[in-house]
Amino acid sequence: MKIDDILKELTLKEKIGMIHGDGLFQTKGVPRLGIPPLKMADGPMGVRADFQNDQWISLNQEDDYVSYLPSGSAIAASWNQEVAYDMGKVLGEEARGRGKDVILAPSVNIKRSPLCGRNFEYMSEDPYLTAKLATDMIKGIQESDVAACVKHFAMNNQETMRLWVDVKVEERAVRELYLPAFKAAVEAGTLSLMGAYNRYKGFHCCHNKELLDDILRTEWGYQGTVISDWGAVHDTALAANCSLDIEMSVTDNFDEYFMADPLYEAVQNGTIKESVVDEKVKRVLWMMEHLQMLGGNRKSGSYNTQQHRQRIKEAAKESVVLLKNENHNLPWAKASVTRILVIGDNGTRLHSTGGGSAEIKALYEISPLMGLKMLLGGHVEITYAKGYYVPEEMESETNWQESSLEESSNVHAQKKDSFDVSKKQEELRKEALELAKDFEHIIYVGGLNHDFDVEGLDREDLTLPYGQDQLLEELLLNHPRTIVTLITGAPVSMEQWESKAQTILWMSYAGMEGGSVFAETIFGDNNPSGKLPETWTKTLADCPAHSVGEFPGAESVAYTEGLYVGYRYHEKYNVKPQYPFGHGLSYTTFRYDSIEVEQFYEEQEIKVIVNVKITNDGTVAGKEVIQLYVEPKNPQIDRPIQELKGFAKVALEAGETKEVTLTLDASSFAYYSEAKKQFVVDTGVYNLRVGTSNEDIRLEKEIRILNK
Ligand code: BGC
Repeated sequence: MKIDDILKELTLKEKIGMIHGDGLFQTKGVPRLGIPPLKMADGPMGVRADFQNDQWISLNQEDDYVSYLPSGSAIAASWNQEVAYDMGKVLGEEARGRGKDVILAPSVNIKRSPLCGRNFEYMSEDPYLTAKLATDMIKGIQESDVAACVKHFAMNNQETMRLWVDVKVEERAVRELYLPAFKAAVEAGTLSLMGAYNRYKGFHCCHNKELLDDILRTEWGYQGTVISDWGAVHDTALAANCSLDIEMSVTDNFDEYFMADPLYEAVQNGTIKESVVDEKVKRVLWMMEHLQMLGGNRKSGSYNTQQHRQRIKEAAKESVVLLKNENHNLPWAKASVTRILVIGDNGTRLHSTGGGSAEIKALYEISPLMGLKMLLGGHVEITYAKGYYVPEEMESETNWQESSLEESSNVHAQKKDSFDVSKKQEELRKEALELAKDFEHIIYVGGLNHDFDVEGLDREDLTLPYGQDQLLEELLLNHPRTIVTLITGAPVSMEQWESKAQTILWMSYAGMEGGSVFAETIFGDNNPSGKLPETWTKTLADCPAHSVGEFPGAESVAYTEGLYVGYRYHEKYNVKPQYPFGHGLSYTTFRYDSIEVEQFYEEQEIKVIVNVKITNDGTVAGKEVIQLYVEPKNPQIDRPIQELKGFAKVALEAGETKEVTLTLDASSFAYYSEAKKQFVVDTGVYNLRVGTSNEDIRLEKEIRILNK
């Protein structure tokens, strides 16, 4: 049956049932017409385990263990679109395999401050990198007849006051930084999108006409559905009269949702037109049709397959970032290592069960310590010391999500320990330092965990928790060759000890095989090729949002740094970061040989082809991310010094040379003109800068963009 014909058959009650939650993760179906309920599941790191339909109580099933994928921050660190596509493919197959219709991922909000609790889900501070990776992930997901649900639209860049904070930000920054990933997702054909909790220009995002009607539908021509974040709708008329399609929430009074009985009554008494309900239902049906839910040959999906685990491992390998490696400390040669000391809570901690709605029940998760043991077998003696103490979380009677609409709810309340925590820290520190005296090979595995990288809460500062700075400082004093590994979803400050460390590795939450990948990296079976998807600053005051004193705000927050987020800020104001955007070392070295540029017009559109020749001039195979930044030489208005507009990851054997082609178009040179209300390209000279981070530029070439 055609959508219009189905619509004619539906009663108002049935239509309303299709546009609001009738369970915590599903809507109502219409069995008599063969319309199934729409089943959704979180989230970005794998398909979340099932809850009871109307309560945040786990069903405790045996069959909802799933593959644990790298988080958004880890996928972004790969700087590899194929990896993003692959992880989308795995996520889509697993979601479909678990019988879901919509997977609530990927999360694409821009990392405005490193303190945002959900940065581990998000990808980058840069809109281009985010857009490229997100669109490939969406394509991968949707190949399994499952809808991606890109979240959270829009300007959802902090957790503090997340349900109410009103974001004030100049139009140009909205267009150039905060919207491009969503626009790209729409262009890539995402079938659904999640409206954010926060407000923008005074209106909640889920009833924000400017965002949903003017920009999303009219300007971008989006045909898919808009699903509210859970509890993000606050008003029946406002939600009904804008193009939000499905209201979801965290409470079990499903019939009382704003788009449930109250909407039914408003239509009955004529205050809201039935046609607005029809529009929503049509979009839901349109999505269902695309998912083959209304008949057709729908894919069945699969989960926990060997192939998924293999692909997840490959992705994790590409996400490891080698920040520093003096004296070629890494990789270690297996033959020369007989005893290892591993220090740090993250050596043994499993992360898949945390983070908020991104939590999952992983089929398994390999910790770094287990990864080392699995790789090395019986000939190497590995000693482990915690090094620092992580206070436990309080057992709660209620699930955090159930009370997540109360602003005061503490997502992760920590247990009040009956003993002196600082004494405990000292004990563990001393124990680790004492042990270290006896070891030549020491690995530190610390960082953050999901008590900090978590939904509903922002970090208070940039420092490493649990006294790790002191531990590291003292450890490095006598053992500078210690391999310092930080597992975090966001930057931390390293000021206190960075200069004393010779080797630093960063990994984000890398999925079920994270620990094996870690071990393989230490011993050179994996050559690190990840790059930082965001700038690591030295201090919090060096971060743009904090330098202007505008994080996290309260009732409202003003993004007065405007366009100058991340590296755009550091370059403009000459603030030296700890590690720049795009940085990441390898066990081999790359020589950037040459750049050639060809410029032409294709159907009136500017096209610039940039050919870069690159050689692996080291001794082992490796992968390099070639980054292309565009610098307007004499901009007619204020613009960032340069912006990322192209990148490609290339694999090279030792001694091998390859030519890599990057393509630019008008969007690569454009800025948003608030006066003209559109993106414009100024004629003039642009410098094309190719390098291995925003600071380490190896080749440049100027071109002139002329009027056509
Ligand atoms: C989060 C969403 C999530 C939803 C459903 C909300 O708390 O913000 O990202 O998809 O819950 O669990």
